[in-house]
Amino acid sequence: MPETITITDNRTGDSIEIPIDQGAADATQWAKLLPGVWFHDPSFGATSAASSSITELDGANGILRYRGYPIEQLAEHSSYLEVAYLLIHGELPTAKEFEAWRYEITHHTFIHENVRKRFMEGFHHDAHPMGILVSTVAALSTFYPGAKDIDDRDVLMKQVVRLIAKMPTLAAGAYRHSVGMPFVYPDNSLDFAANFLSMMWKTAEPRYEANPVLARALDVLFILHADHEQNCSTTAMRTVGSSHADPYISTAAAASALYGPRHGGANEAVIRMLNEIGSIENVAPYVEKVKRGEARLQGFGHRVYKNYDPRAKIIKRTAYEVFEVTGKSPMLDLALALEEVALSDEYFISRKLYPNVDFYSGLIYQAMGFPMDMFTVLFAIPRTAGWLSHYMELLDQGSRIYRPRQVFTGAAERDYVPIVNR
Ligand code: SDX
Repeated sequence: MPETITITDNRTGDSIEIPIDQGAADATQWAKLLPGVWFHDPSFGATSAASSSITELDGANGILRYRGYPIEQLAEHSSYLEVAYLLIHGELPTAKEFEAWRYEITHHTFIHENVRKRFMEGFHHDAHPMGILVSTVAALSTFYPGAKDIDDRDVLMKQVVRLIAKMPTLAAGAYRHSVGMPFVYPDNSLDFAANFLSMMWKTAEPRYEANPVLARALDVLFILHADHEQNCSTTAMRTVGSSHADPYISTAAAASALYGPRHGGANEAVIRMLNEIGSIENVAPYVEKVKRGEARLQGFGHRVYKNYDPRAKIIKRTAYEVFEVTGKSPMLDLALALEEVALSDEYFISRKLYPNVDFYSGLIYQAMGFPMDMFTVLFAIPRTAGWLSHYMELLDQGSRIYRPRQVFTGAAERDYVPIVNR
């Protein structure tokens, strides 16, 4: 059987045979047969917007690989910085390459004092850290005007290093501002996760020593959140990047998309949902409320995974390691009960709704002392490496500007009516 499809325009009897290549049919082929007829797919439910070699998802079987490496192996053996290198460069680094990469990232963690003193401190005390992060990432574009030269690979890579390195500094700075604590400068003698924890939690002690179990758990969470193919925020990154906006502006657009409760804001929404449920007795009534369509089971469901999100399995296991140090989250039993009820209920089974990356991550963040409004920020820090890897891939592919077509449903032509006659 040929790996092709044939489309026939029954109005004319004309047909076109289109190859199926790597699971996709080239849309420009049918456009030759059907000029002005668009295949309508408003939320990209059945449309491929890009070809990519970065991350592979197999939603039916719950498989996730970064550049071919299974997420389970990377979570077990790698580090976020090494995974960031893998996403950006396409290969795991040699020891020499990793040392150079680690040195570069470590020595770009500082932000311009004006970003902190004049910009971040200008926000209201209760400004949501994601609002501060999105704004300050965009503001970095004004501090590095040379970043617009995206055709110069060295210039582009410099911005990539700066963004990966500075996200934790901006994130921690947003938190410190929100609690009225002094800004903590990066400690270049610490690794990525431990330095972030130092910038978050250091008070009067001369040097903040992160608990190694918690620092490792956070690094694993960073690995798990680093990329996820054409998700909403990555699509925002590629869309804005396709206009050749600089990496800072494009990253701010991606972080804006991540902020939404359907996407990266879900980890915060899960905790709010568990707070609303309150006790095991209320689990069944809440599930019934969801089944009536009156609420969503936050942290459940996924556009691609129609099986257990492989990241959720690793996060669930990591949660127990964290609770060994912090004490068990009082919400854990509630979350486990909710998962058990949902996974045995026909409503969720028929819709292939399983826990996703956000269902258990919030429990870990809460146990580690992060306030809820920092949870999406914790998602944005590592996803920056993924967003930037897609931005670079888009440029390498010579992609045209994203400009979808539409189905027009508005008014037909009509003449202007002066206001006195309306
Ligand atoms: C992330 O894309 C990615 O890769 C994202 C991400 C990444 O790493 O980048 O994995 C990170 O965003 C994970 C998702 C976090 N969001 C949530 O947990 C919020 C709750 N989940 C949903 O709102 C929803 O499941 C989405 C947004 C994740 C997916 O939405 P879809 O694919 O558009 O599915 P849908 O809304 O069309 O739902 C299909 C059916 C509907 O029922 P019917 O209308 O067919 O009767 O399933 C139902 C929905 O009502 N449904 C849910 C549900 N999710 C879907 N019902 C109850 N609770 C839910 N969570």
